Amino acid sequence: MEKKEAQRESARLRSEIERHNRLYYLDTRPEISDFEFDQLLERLIALEKEFPELLTPDSPSQRVGGGITKEFPTVVHREPMLSLSNTYSIAEVTDFCNRVEKLVDAEGGGKPEYVAELKFDGVAISMLYRDGLLVCGATRGDGRQGDEITANLKTIPTIPLRLDMPDMPLFGAALSGEIEVRGEVYMRKADFERLNEERPEEEQFANPRNATAGTLKLQDSSEVSRRRMHFVAYYLKGIADETMHHVERLRQLESMGFVTGKHYKLCKEMTGIAAFIDEWAEKRWTLPYETDGVVLKLNDVTLWDRLGATAKSPRWAIAYKYPAQQAKTVLQGVVFQVGRLGTITPVAELKPVKLAGSTVSRSTLHNFDEIERLGVRVGDYVMIEKSGEVIPKVISVVLAERLETTDAIEVPEACPECGTKLERPEGEVSWYCPNEEGCPAQRRGRILHFASRNALDIQNLGESLVAQLVERGLASDAGDLYRLTLEQLAGLDRMAAKSAHNVLEALEKSKKRGYDRLLYALGIRHVGAATARELSHAAPSIERLREMSQEDLAAVPDIGPVIAQSIRDFFAKPWAQAMLEKLAAAGLPMQAEAAKALLNNNFEGQSVIFTGGLERHVRQQAEEMVRERGGRIVSSVSKKTTLVVAGKEAGSKLEKAKKLGVRVIDEDEFERML
Ligand code: IVH
Repeated sequence: MEKKEAQRESARLRSEIERHNRLYYLDTRPEISDFEFDQLLERLIALEKEFPELLTPDSPSQRVGGGITKEFPTVVHREPMLSLSNTYSIAEVTDFCNRVEKLVDAEGGGKPEYVAELKFDGVAISMLYRDGLLVCGATRGDGRQGDEITANLKTIPTIPLRLDMPDMPLFGAALSGEIEVRGEVYMRKADFERLNEERPEEEQFANPRNATAGTLKLQDSSEVSRRRMHFVAYYLKGIADETMHHVERLRQLESMGFVTGKHYKLCKEMTGIAAFIDEWAEKRWTLPYETDGVVLKLNDVTLWDRLGATAKSPRWAIAYKYPAQQAKTVLQGVVFQVGRLGTITPVAELKPVKLAGSTVSRSTLHNFDEIERLGVRVGDYVMIEKSGEVIPKVISVVLAERLETTDAIEVPEACPECGTKLERPEGEVSWYCPNEEGCPAQRRGRILHFASRNALDIQNLGESLVAQLVERGLASDAGDLYRLTLEQLAGLDRMAAKSAHNVLEALEKSKKRGYDRLLYALGIRHVGAATARELSHAAPSIERLREMSQEDLAAVPDIGPVIAQSIRDFFAKPWAQAMLEKLAAAGLPMQAEAAKALLNNNFEGQSVIFTGGLERHVRQQAEEMVRERGGRIVSSVSKKTTLVVAGKEAGSKLEKAKKLGVRVIDEDEFERML
């Protein structure tokens, strides 16, 4: 393709992709399927790869991430990011309103108008747009300064990379061209659950907020992109009309391309505020994301400056926090579940009770230390709670109502599934069934993990089917799945020829999922999906992985001595060996795909540093292009540096390079080298 044509095509793709992005996230009425969307994006990425000079910082291709950030630089906020003071009762909210009204009155204002909004339970961030382009995004940090996480934020589809602002005069009175937007990054409940599913048990997040905070601090932005984060904006600064009220600012944010909270209410009186709080106390459980309260703020933004703030929180806003939802019920029994790694988990069987929008009849008791801590017995009345956590937990025993007929909860001596004597390794809180190979629960767990969505995603291979396969001796590990015949499958309970056929088809499809997915599917302890991807780069074949020493493994990013040991242990197990042989024989990908099309080697042997601002490239991508062409990226100029790419306003690094006599090139020359 000619460059001219490529330019036209990439511009067309960009605007087409942004349009579909808006249709999907803002208007929630998509016109094309996810698959078609991905194809558009892939075409754009391919074009930008072929013509790197066409890549712009606001290209939607930037959202897929890929750059690795070693450390997040610190940025000082233009204005401190305060937090809100919390209240827990309507009486306290009334106090707040009285205080505000006194202050407003003293300022000569009339009766103020309040906006009641939902309080999103996520992570507050601030973003700076210069001339409409997103240039910097940061976490709240300590309120004064936070971490710069722009690369990660760019992967969030509801964060515009360029503001939709044909109305340039809107820019700040000082004509700085800078706009600041603040809001909350959050994860939807369903995405949070999916994320936890793909993680080893010991690495699971307690709630969506923790998962969001953890995700925003990831160094690999492509992993952030995979986790489907959302952003809701609630603050806008830098527009010309400084008197614009809060609610109008929300509309303004929307016209710029942001999503704002749909549920809010303008109120003048306490009764309206109390009604809003009341209305959402239960209704909030029907939302796809978590909210933990209501934020009340003044609609007149000019009052914000006039009322000011205390050291920690503004005087013009307050948060009302809903009490954690609790319910009383009876612990009817305890069952012991055996996980795929042999861990015994006591699970409370509760008398069904309504809590926070759903009926709860089970809840994990985690381990026996927890049972001891609670002092709980079967037959006890217990309080269960859902607070920020999706899964309810038993928080206390109602001792005052204990009956005489309660029973102690004993650690079972033997595995409830296979009868093997349980063990508790030194220093661990959990008991384990050591019968790794033979325990049917562990076999089932391993096969289900192998088939799970983020592993090989084998549709139709559900719990009841797997239970039958294991019980009848048709499959003891994932390798056996690929030897199943149509007759064997069709002979199982609740299986007709058609569904048996579907299972075989799904198994066939699973062979094409790729080597990194297979690594995760093997179910090596501590190896989650992200670690598996990391491993697949370091060890491009199972053979290579098997040969790697403890030291080799520990040198891989994100892999510490515990994971390294666990990988070594896995390969030492005879049953794992047998399973791998079966999988290889069935044609599963035992190595990574061959490297993609060869690029030139124009940076071979070069130690390259970028300094100053590039006009036509995103820094991380430019660095990646150097690496792909054989070069190394260094972080400071030294005698060993061989090439400096200097962009606009390059400073001390450029000077040092000149002093040391290192070759310096500009962006044009860099493009020629590419
Ligand atoms: S306004 C001065 N509005 O709650 C702070 N905050 O403790 C003004 N939050 O840090 C913030 N939903 O992370 C505002 N609708 C909303 C919010 C909201 C959640 C968070 C935000 C803030 C914390 C306050």
